[in-house]
Parts: sequence; C-alpha cells; structure tokens
Amino acid sequence: MKLFDVYPVNDINIVRANGSYVWDEKGVQYLDMYGGHAVISIGHTHPHWVQRIEEQLNKIAFYSNSIQIPIQKELAEKLGKLSGKEDYPLFLVNSGAEANENALKLASFHTGRKKIIAFNKAFHGRTSLAVAATDNKNIVAPVNETDNVVFLPFNDEAAIENYFQEHGKEVAAVIIETIQGVGGITVATNSFLQKIRSLCDDYVAVLIADEVQCGYGRTGKFFAMDHAGVKADIYTMAKGMGNGFPIGGILIVPHFQPKHGLLGTTFGGNHLACAAALAVLEVIEQDNLIQHAQELGEYLKDELNTMDGIQNVRGKGLMIGFDVPEEIKDLRKQLLQEHHIFTGEARPNVIRLLPSLALSRTEVDEFLSALRMAVGMLSSEHKVQECDATKVQ
Ligand SMILES: Cc1ncc(COP(=O)(O)O)c(C=O)c1O
Repeated sequence: MKLFDVYPVNDINIVRANGSYVWDEKGVQYLDMYGGHAVISIGHTHPHWVQRIEEQLNKIAFYSNSIQIPIQKELAEKLGKLSGKEDYPLFLVNSGAEANENALKLASFHTGRKKIIAFNKAFHGRTSLAVAATDNKNIVAPVNETDNVVFLPFNDEAAIENYFQEHGKEVAAVIIETIQGVGGITVATNSFLQKIRSLCDDYVAVLIADEVQCGYGRTGKFFAMDHAGVKADIYTMAKGMGNGFPIGGILIVPHFQPKHGLLGTTFGGNHLACAAALAVLEVIEQDNLIQHAQELGEYLKDELNTMDGIQNVRGKGLMIGFDVPEEIKDLRKQLLQEHHIFTGEARPNVIRLLPSLALSRTEVDEFLSALRMAVGMLSSEHKVQECDATKVQ
C-alpha cells in the first residue's frame, strides 16, 4: 500500500525525541528549531505531558460529547486564566482549520451576513471556508471558490477603511493572523489591528484572531494580538495547544449566544486531548514559558540582527523569520544536512524559527554558531564561483 504523495519530505526517520532534540534511526541528533511546525510548545515528550496522557489513557480516552466531561471545564478554566480571557467560553475541535471553519461559521450565524475579509498571503487552513480565506490559489478547489471572501493588503489601513465604507453592512468577519506564519513572518502593526477593531465595532462585524500559529504564548504574550491591546471576538487555537496531541479550540466573546446543535464535533474535546492540553498549560504556567519565550526571543533576534549575510530579521518571541539572500539560498538545506538543525521555511526565501517555548539559551547559542558557520561557508563558496566566472570571461 502506498501513501498519497502530497508532502515533499526529507529522507529522515525520526524515532525518538526529548525537549528540543530529536534523533533518527541511526542515532543522529537534530536540534529542532522548527517545533514540528510550531506544534511543540513545551518540548518533545515532556515528562508531565507524558504522565498526564498515560494516566488519562488508563482511565478513559474517549466518550462522545453527549455526557458530562469535567476535564473540558477544567481546561476551559485554566485556558481562561492563562490567556486572561476568563469570560470567553471555549469550543473544542481537533485542528487549526477546523477552529477557523467554526469561527467563520459562527461569525456568519451571529451577524446573519456572508462577507469575510482576509488578507494577502493569509493562511487559515484547508477545510472549505478556511481555505477560501487562504491566499493560495493552488490549494483552493473549484468547489471552495466563493465571492464571499475578499483579500485586502496586509497593514493597509486605508484599504480596509474604504472597503468597510462601501460594504461594511455585509461584512460578517475579519480574520487575521497577527503574525502571518506561512506568509513569511509578517507582523501586523498595532495601529492596523486597532483600526480593524474599531471598524468591526462600528459595523458590528466579528474580529477573528487566527492564533493557530502565533498564539499560545509563542510571541511572549498568550495571544499575539494582546501586544496591540486589542481584543478579538473569537480566538482560534491549535498547534501549541496539545504539544503534538491533536486538539484545537475557539474562545468566543461572551455575548455570542450558543444554541444546542449550532456547532458540534465527534472527537473535539475528548478526554485524552483535554489531558494533553491541560498538561501543556500546567507546564507553561509552572515554568513561566511565556516570559521565557519573550526574553529568549529578544536575545535570539538581537544576535541574528548582528549577523552578516542574512536580512530583515523580524517576529516576536519565539516566532522569528529572516530573509535568505539568493547567493546563500541553500542555507536551510545546509543547516539540516551539515549541522543537523531543523528550521521552517516560507517561500520563496524566508527561514522561519518556531522552536519549543522551553528552548534553552545554550540551544540558541548552538543554533547561532551553526548558522554563522553555514552562512560563512555558503558565502565563501559563492565568492569562489563568482571569481571563477570572472576568470572564464
Ligand atoms: C495561521 C494558521 N491557521 C490555520 C492553520 C491550519 O491548521 P491545521 O493544519 O491544524 O488545520 C495553520 C497551519 O499551518 C496556520 O499556520
């Protein structure tokens, strides 16, 4: 039996993981600066997380949402406390796309409207509404195409103001990543987010913060939108929430009225997923990981800013990106193959760093010294090639 071949994969078989390191079948150690795509929040196989899941597994793993599941309420309470959104009820799902799908649907139910504003280079997932609000034609199937979604330029206050002036009464929701991930680590300005908030207030539209990648403490605040002092009506979450155990959720502003049957899912909020998510929040709280992400991220960014050869370092906390110039375009490959370091990418030329929030200063220094070496090596190779080319001419 073959797998449906949709992922371009590295020829590496990871069989073991601990903290910010993973090992392949031959015992080769890799530093994980990618966090399995921003998913590993408290570190691979964290002992408290493993123990919580094991204990829950031995009691009950799953029962449907037709019964009382007290661990869901425990999770909602802890999440409310850590995020500072105590009054926002929680609806649990299984993935980021599903979180956004439900958020968009809820916004439409609530307002009775159809139009959604999304932004250029946005990524919100691959289910039908989430993908329609994603700015990548290659992954939108004909059946997902809709006139209900409009894409506006990111950080362009005049453009969104004009749109609202013309069509504001039709707008159900604005959905935005405060820091675009797949789009290349582009940070929304505080004043752009404040402008969106005030337009949503004026026109009674719903502001959805897609915090699937930038949320859950990664940027040094629980939600990336918190940096702007702006409150969303719906926060969507997934990646870091379960540290690798599939779980997603949406936090919903208290004045939205629930109704039985309005939303629903079979697997969302199962006992095992809630145990994993609670373990994550307990570790985040106990080890002060949000502040740690902020401080370590500052250090990492400052160091990157002093480095020759890479450009345009940006991001917040442990969500950092930089541009890789054409002459060292193989940098990411070099880091993986020669230095055994996983990093993320955003096409065409961005390296994304999305490590565990429990990354240590020593691990950052290990990364920086490998990066210096890799940049130096590729730059000198390029100079030699240039020199050879001049000689030939
Ligand atoms: C900002 C954002 N939203 C939504 C998603 C979709 O999440 P999932 O792959 O869990 O459906 C992603 C995934 O990369 C994302 O980065």
